[in-house]
Amino acid sequence: MKIFKLLAFAAFACTAAMGQDAIVNIPGRQTFSLNGKWNYIIDPYENGYYDYRYKPFDEMSNPGAGAFFLDVKPKDKTDLVEYSFDLSPTLWVPGDWNSQDDRLLFYEGTIWYRKLFDYKKTGDNRVFVHFGAANYETDVYLNGKKLGKHVGGFTPFNYEITGLLKDENNTLVVKVDNKRRRDAVPTLNTDWWNYGGITRDVNIVEVPATFIEDYKIQLKKGSSNVVEGYVKLNGAKQSDQVRIEIPELKASVVVNTGKDGYAPVSFSLKKVQLWSPENPKLYEVVIASSSDRVTEKIGFRTIETRGTDILLNGQSIFLRGICIHEEVPQRGGRAYSMEDAKLLLGWAKELNCNYVRLAHYPHNENMVSLADEMGILVWEENPVYWTILWDNPATYELAKQQLTDLIRRDKNRASVIIWSMANETPVSEARTNFLKNLTEHARSLDDTRLISAALEVHGGGPNTRVVEDPFADYVDIVNFNQYLGWYGAGGPERLDNTDWRIKYDKPVMVSEFGAGALQGFHADAETRWSEEYQEVLYEKTLNMLSKIPQFRGVSPWILADFRSPRRQLPNIQDGWNRKGVIGENGVKKKAFYALKKFYDEMELIYKNASVKK
Ligand code: GCU
Repeated sequence: MKIFKLLAFAAFACTAAMGQDAIVNIPGRQTFSLNGKWNYIIDPYENGYYDYRYKPFDEMSNPGAGAFFLDVKPKDKTDLVEYSFDLSPTLWVPGDWNSQDDRLLFYEGTIWYRKLFDYKKTGDNRVFVHFGAANYETDVYLNGKKLGKHVGGFTPFNYEITGLLKDENNTLVVKVDNKRRRDAVPTLNTDWWNYGGITRDVNIVEVPATFIEDYKIQLKKGSSNVVEGYVKLNGAKQSDQVRIEIPELKASVVVNTGKDGYAPVSFSLKKVQLWSPENPKLYEVVIASSSDRVTEKIGFRTIETRGTDILLNGQSIFLRGICIHEEVPQRGGRAYSMEDAKLLLGWAKELNCNYVRLAHYPHNENMVSLADEMGILVWEENPVYWTILWDNPATYELAKQQLTDLIRRDKNRASVIIWSMANETPVSEARTNFLKNLTEHARSLDDTRLISAALEVHGGGPNTRVVEDPFADYVDIVNFNQYLGWYGAGGPERLDNTDWRIKYDKPVMVSEFGAGALQGFHADAETRWSEEYQEVLYEKTLNMLSKIPQFRGVSPWILADFRSPRRQLPNIQDGWNRKGVIGENGVKKKAFYALKKFYDEMELIYKNASVKK
């Protein structure tokens, strides 16, 4: 068992080579926000990064005035400096740049950000600069020194700045490049807007010289009262005593960390109220070493599958879900704040959802911590989307890194029950091996949650559909996307006489179905883009799916209309995917109520079934 835990810890530790491990539970730390207005310079030719010989300035011993990260000011009237952050406009951080300036709506390339700040640290404390996320490739500099490069648009990263920090006039320069790349994750082609920028919070984080860097405090796999996890210290005094306590449950344990700062944790809980959508009970957990103390609200629940059932705290459950993109439709921009999370999850609650699929990449932390509080179960997904380079080891490392960072960030969230490895990926040996390896990696980091992926439908006859995918052998729940009645021949009438052949003795869920509708456009149910067409498609699809014996959940595509460069039908799409059950203007469509009606019925069915048991 210890070797297994050390492997899990080692997997998190290897990130050091690729950038510094993101400190967990930033809201529980001493922080100084750098959110607000940042000066920016648009740099499509990366003129501030490369010299005219295309050599990177930050690899030169004496880069000269052209290097934007130096934020050089002209010494006097004779001095030639061809850029100025001081004279440049500003962008809000956090926030994508596309929705802040019409000139940047379609912009894909490099933008330089600069933030000036004063910060006086206390004693021998250490200081980090932490980013919730920035899309896609980010180079960070402080006071003219390179801190590092981060690749990936949806996971947190931080750099230690203790040695570079000044009490006053610090210059933080950040180069963000959201160019799409063939070997990236995601790759060139997606059905969402490639929002660029520093899209989530930026904080200065001050911690003691030896601090509590990471911890996992969750119920052991298969147990409803034994906590199993670990703590990890970072700093000189790695060997230390750490006390983990849950005051409300009068439960505590003291562990001794080894030279690597790591210690496994295991202790029992008495009379613990298990977290569930009906009772999203969170406990304050206190973790204290001799020099540091952090607290976090954590829920305890069990999640498993048995045959074709999904069991939450031992009870069979039906996942009443909806897919969500990390976007606020009314703003036409990335969601990032707690208010944004309340809007999106609030709509899901109005649908009577007990579950959401956060698509197709890790969303901001506010979404999952609010889901913990609201009692909404969560699917989180690694952005392995459509056709990435399966044979490219560097692409695999990128996918693995993003998955590692996601699990590291959210492993203490009771609401998170499913790690999704991918969406709609074409079956091939290379692809299946890629996903299989990611699955093994995810299970090595966290064996307490379920693994799935959004698979596709394969073949079948005129009135049959088959779900058969080699990767389905490695998942806990078989999820697939299907768009009968919208894509392909025929309309919603096809849903009345289609049978499904799904051989797996596992729970089956439908991770996507849907139809486009322009909010406010009304016609007969055969007319595409009308609310009536979408409504009838929902009713017929839910009726069809309910006949699948293993059917244990669904997350229709999608909560709200969202921006997509692939959707250009004038007067209908105009750059928006219209499959939301809520329009771009925040107004609910008829399908919203059809879905809610179905969920109210399902809730009753499962409630009655659990009472009978
Ligand atoms: C796909 C895909 C989504 C896309 C949707 C659509 O299934 O997973 O990202 O937006 O279909 O076509 O609307």
